[in-house]
Amino acid sequence: MNPGGIAVTTTLDAIDLSALDFWARPRTEREAAFAALRRRDRPAFYRELKLPFLKTGDGYWALVRHADVVEASRTPEVFSSEPCSNSVADLPPYLARYFGSMINMDDPRHAKIRRIVSRAFTPRVLAKLEADLAASATEIVDELLATGPGDFVDQVAARLPLRVICDMMGIPERDRARVYAHTNTILGLGDPDYTGGRDFMDTGVTRGGMLYGLAAAMAAGFELNHLAMKLARRRRREPADDLTSALVAAEIDGESLTDQEIGSFFILLVVAGNETTRNAMTHGLRLLTRNPDQRDLLLADFDGRIGGAVEEIVRVATPVIQFRRTLTRDHEMNGHRYREGDKVLLFYNSANRDASVFPDPDRFDITRSPNPHVGFGGPGPHFCLGANLARREITVMFRELFTRVPAIRATGPADWLYSNFINGIKRQNCTF
Ligand code: HEM
Repeated sequence: MNPGGIAVTTTLDAIDLSALDFWARPRTEREAAFAALRRRDRPAFYRELKLPFLKTGDGYWALVRHADVVEASRTPEVFSSEPCSNSVADLPPYLARYFGSMINMDDPRHAKIRRIVSRAFTPRVLAKLEADLAASATEIVDELLATGPGDFVDQVAARLPLRVICDMMGIPERDRARVYAHTNTILGLGDPDYTGGRDFMDTGVTRGGMLYGLAAAMAAGFELNHLAMKLARRRRREPADDLTSALVAAEIDGESLTDQEIGSFFILLVVAGNETTRNAMTHGLRLLTRNPDQRDLLLADFDGRIGGAVEEIVRVATPVIQFRRTLTRDHEMNGHRYREGDKVLLFYNSANRDASVFPDPDRFDITRSPNPHVGFGGPGPHFCLGANLARREITVMFRELFTRVPAIRATGPADWLYSNFINGIKRQNCTF
């Protein structure tokens, strides 16, 4: 039985995580499929979808249990993020130049870059940011009240993350709308709304649409890269108090980051900083609307309960569905033998519903404790760099929202993003 109360039966043979239509199926069916996969005694293997222009391999093992996702994350010497973790197919050079940042690297190179950029995410820096966050949240709610209820994504959820990440990097006001559009295109790869695939081939969710999406993502990567290079050149001449200035000035063992490294890091950060937090906020409003008891509990003691609520929203929503690892050698994990070169996908959405770790996993419970979810990734070197920032953004935005617009609720169905990577919501009406 799923949370909506509809019985869903799924046979293992009917599940194909590589099928384009799997990710267009209702969420309840998908959840049931992952529950069936978790009940298997070993991981399932799926053939990769073949797409021209991409170096696809044979396939991948689907890691769907919490224990497997955690162990693979914290064993990076065996479960490598190279050659890439953000794509099932290896990235060809023309895409790697844009999307091949530290998320696709192992230590020691990864650790060196992470050391530089993590200076922008220390508790001290975040504490300084708090007043700006609160001022931005106030402005966003002022505008919401002035305009009246409409699309929550556009009016609220998209705004704070975009502003924060652009301020952090030093992106001028005039470029911000473009940054937003390009990050949507990159993570909307495959969704006809963002890539134009429907108009191009009238295909909707098909190989043609995916191909068109790839071309659109490449164009978006090119433009963001161009923007980053321009900004980096300006900051070399005139440093400012932003992350781009820190990146151009940084040296790793006497070497500076190349323009390409700065460009791909810039893309990673604007994409990761924007798309995930926005979706977490929208899922948060939906979850609090559909669970009025939890909403009442939160509003009765906002400061005491918002920490737990944010963790539970990230667990239940799991805004990032999966990342990939590749085996550096033969290895046995939890009773299954993997071979060198095997690919595995870490399905965070499924690990976060594993009943052996989360009692009554489909229940949204803001007091859940402990809550060792893997929504920000498993423990290990790639654990989300922006996790604390995202937590602060959601906390500050929800405090402002529920204090000044306590009647706000999601209304009508969500317009879901078609994706096997991001659990995204394109539009969600609200009322108050
Ligand atoms: C609710 C919001 C967010 C979610 C659910 C999320 C999720 C994730 C996940 C699952 C990973 C792990 C990747 C892996 O293990 O291979 C990750 C890594 C990362 N995230 Fe986030 N993220 C969020 C917000 C942010 C924000 C706000 C930023 C930056 C402003 C950010 C920047 C990054 C970066 C740079 C990495 C790569 C870290 C590395 O490779 O060392 N994320 N995130």
